[in-house]
Amino acid sequence: MVVKKPVRVAPSMMCADFLHLADDLRVLEGGGADFLHVDIMDGHYVPNFTLGPDFCRALARCSHLPLDIHLMVENPDAHIEAFATIPGATVSFHPEASRHPHRTLSLIRSFGADCGIAVDPSMPLSAIDELLPFVRRVCIMTVNPGYAGQKLVPTTIAKIAALSRVIADRVLVVDIEADGNVSWDNIPVMVAAGADILVAGSSSLFDGAAGLLDNMRRILELLSRD
Ligand code: DX5
Ligand code: ZN
Repeated sequence: MVVKKPVRVAPSMMCADFLHLADDLRVLEGGGADFLHVDIMDGHYVPNFTLGPDFCRALARCSHLPLDIHLMVENPDAHIEAFATIPGATVSFHPEASRHPHRTLSLIRSFGADCGIAVDPSMPLSAIDELLPFVRRVCIMTVNPGYAGQKLVPTTIAKIAALSRVIADRVLVVDIEADGNVSWDNIPVMVAAGADILVAGSSSLFDGAAGLLDNMRRILELLSRD
């Protein structure tokens, strides 16, 4: 019998109110968030800039929630140490941005961090087959990387389901993370497909329609429905 893992929530910190960050962190912690998803963008792998290692270190000093660092950068090897040395962090990168992704995974682990890979909507699962035994997390990008507020790429739902089957068939210990347009309508669909972690951004948690605590409760209520 396969025991379904509880679905965890990772607030997307690029969507947070930076002017009230410490207060919002208390609300997220009290509201039941599991990780803090931090999108790192270099203006090259994606045409946007967001957060950096100093922001991550400030978060780690201010919150006990583990950081879920998503590197949307070219040549990730050059930046691994800055992020993988943050206590408790999981560091994920896009494998096509690394010359030798398996070596990049080893580099992340060498600094004591857990490692993951992030899969662009255009990338087939076959491209990450050889990496699955070496990761703890696969971030399935359900939007094109780079910006908050985008709409779901519908084919990525089937990708979550297919990856879930591969993980079960190969008896791997890998969490599937859905990242992008995790909206009120998409949450049940992503969970039904097999998502274990939801990156909650402007489409739900930070939608501004209600307070953070109410939105966290609404997400957890959605997840409590089987
Ligand atoms: C997109 C980021 C996502 C995004 C999620 O590149 O990885 O984390 O911020 O937020 P929404 O809900 O706006 O897609
Ligand atoms: Zn992300």
